[in-house]
Amino acid sequence: MRAPIYLDEAGAWEAICAARRIGAPEPGRRLRLEIGESWLWIDADGGWSIDPMPPAPICLLLDLYLPLALQDGPSFTIAHLGQSLDGRIAAANGASRWVTGPEDLLHNHRMRALADAILVGADTVRLDDPQLTVRRCPGDNPVRVVLDPMLGLGSDYALFRDQAAETLVITAGDRAPPTHLGQAEVVSVPRTEDGALDCRAIVELLRRRGLGWLFVEGGGVTVSRFLAQGVLDRLQLTIAPLIIGSGRPGIQLPEIQTLAQGLRPRLRRFALGGDMLFECDFS
Ligand SMILES: NC(=O)c1ccc[n+]([C@@H]2O[C@H](COP(=O)([O-])OP(=O)(O)OC[C@H]3O[C@@H](n4cnc5c(N)ncnc54)[C@H](OP(=O)(O)O)[C@@H]3O)[C@@H](O)[C@H]2O)c1
Repeated sequence: MRAPIYLDEAGAWEAICAARRIGAPEPGRRLRLEIGESWLWIDADGGWSIDPMPPAPICLLLDLYLPLALQDGPSFTIAHLGQSLDGRIAAANGASRWVTGPEDLLHNHRMRALADAILVGADTVRLDDPQLTVRRCPGDNPVRVVLDPMLGLGSDYALFRDQAAETLVITAGDRAPPTHLGQAEVVSVPRTEDGALDCRAIVELLRRRGLGWLFVEGGGVTVSRFLAQGVLDRLQLTIAPLIIGSGRPGIQLPEIQTLAQGLRPRLRRFALGGDMLFECDFS
């Protein structure tokens, strides 16, 4: 008798990317992907089955990403922050390497690979000069989007020069912006009454460009504004066993009077190495 061949990590990730390309099956139907000599069956909600059952880390991979890969509605907006036990995403001076462990960094790259567009706030560019490309797993680079309402960033940052992916800078509609910042295109959206960029208008602008699956990667101010404006479908918080005690906060929302006014989303949770990922579902 031949030994069973189990689905491995590379095969599972390939299947997840294939599911993202193909999209969700009709309700009540299942997607069938050929994996070696067996079939991976996938439900519209991301439920799956395969024989033989793979080892636990591969099950976690499929459980975590398949429901996200199958989000193919007009728009899907998901944010992520890696934070300490006391809710900080960086030290006061912006040092943030690394709050969470290598498994969460890989997770970030996998989220980038699933996304049509990745979005960050101006301070993340100012402090980290990030590339925002997919490097730790197979996958295409998403379009990169930076929120810079006052156009305070210069054109010297890597993502405005490297041409690794299409890049957009979103500024406030009350300005007459230049058309480009380095290689990046500059576009504008209106502000809300409190002066923030209108996150719903941002999602709509990206959707019209075919960038419906949006990954908001930080920092805390940016993710908090998407959450406060009710624009997030999901929020992932990866909590690291670290107390920073001061520094840049993760989520900050307007004050509430009673805890009943707090948000109590449905949750999924996954162990990522020594960290714990909580995924909040606001849809
Ligand atoms: N641990 C993590 O997961 C993680 C992820 C990303 C970044 N980081 C770290 O977080 C720090 C940066 O985060 P941060 O919270 O300080 O800043 P941020 O969110 O990166 O950027 C904040 C700035 O972006 C602009 N902005 C974002 N959303 C806006 C909106 N809806 N309307 C108007 N303006 C908007 C504003 O620019 P103006 O001030 O010009 O108005 C705002 O001050 C860095 O240290 C970075 O290393 C950590």
